[in-house]
Amino acid sequence: MKRNRMMDWPVVNPGILEYLRHQQMELSGQLRELQEEASRRRVPVIPHETVVFLDWLFDLTQPKEVLEVGTAIGFSALLMAERVVEGGQVTTIERNPQMIQEALTNISKFNMDDKITVLEGDAAELLQTLEGPYDFVFMDSAKAKYPEFFPEIMNLLKVGGVLAIDDVLQGGTIMYDEKYIPKRVRKIHRKLNEFLDEVLTHESLKASLLPLGDGLLMITKKENHDFSYMKS
Ligand SMILES: C[S@@+](CC[C@H](N)C(=O)[O-])C[C@H]1O[C@@H](n2cnc3c(N)ncnc32)[C@H](O)[C@@H]1O
Repeated sequence: MKRNRMMDWPVVNPGILEYLRHQQMELSGQLRELQEEASRRRVPVIPHETVVFLDWLFDLTQPKEVLEVGTAIGFSALLMAERVVEGGQVTTIERNPQMIQEALTNISKFNMDDKITVLEGDAAELLQTLEGPYDFVFMDSAKAKYPEFFPEIMNLLKVGGVLAIDDVLQGGTIMYDEKYIPKRVRKIHRKLNEFLDEVLTHESLKASLLPLGDGLLMITKKENHDFSYMKS
């Protein structure tokens, strides 16, 4: 799997990051082992401060139908599956064959086969085949595709449902003028800025940007709206 260099650039000061990672509740059992394994192997799963936040959020909002884009080894899918309400389901999309294999192995190991469905393939195609509706969607895949996936996801999300989008702050460089951004990441920097400009204050949404990990954008869908223009 490609290394995400930005996973090493904290968007809050390092002392606070250390505090968020070590003073808050810890995972236990198999999930903690998987978290440690991911950290050892540098698989880019959600950082601990995001784990704690999702744990808190699921307790508060009690989602039942959950969709994830970007499974990797299944860590966040397993975390969410352990926290959905009775009868809840997690559907998660992954295109990397090695990750799919590892996720399926982990899901079986956790006895979660009946709670988690891994859809194998590219989210660009698979999102169009889903019907929803979902109470909670977690978008944690290639950032360049966020604007393309967003309209589909908003169609799949219930009114009142929540979308969490991970890694939107570009390692803390999102606010820099493009001329200070290395050429190889300029396009994604521009795309993410345009995307944030569009959704942060959109009248059909309620959004809040949190400095967890490399930035977690939380969006509530207030009403139906056609965002298909964002695909072009
Ligand atoms: C950051 S990792 C996901 C981590 C996982 N959510 C966790 O925290 O445990 C991103 C994953 O998204 C997958 N991915 C990226 N673009 C995708 C796409 N268009 N369709 C399906 N999967 C995609 C990558 O292969 C990678 O495994």
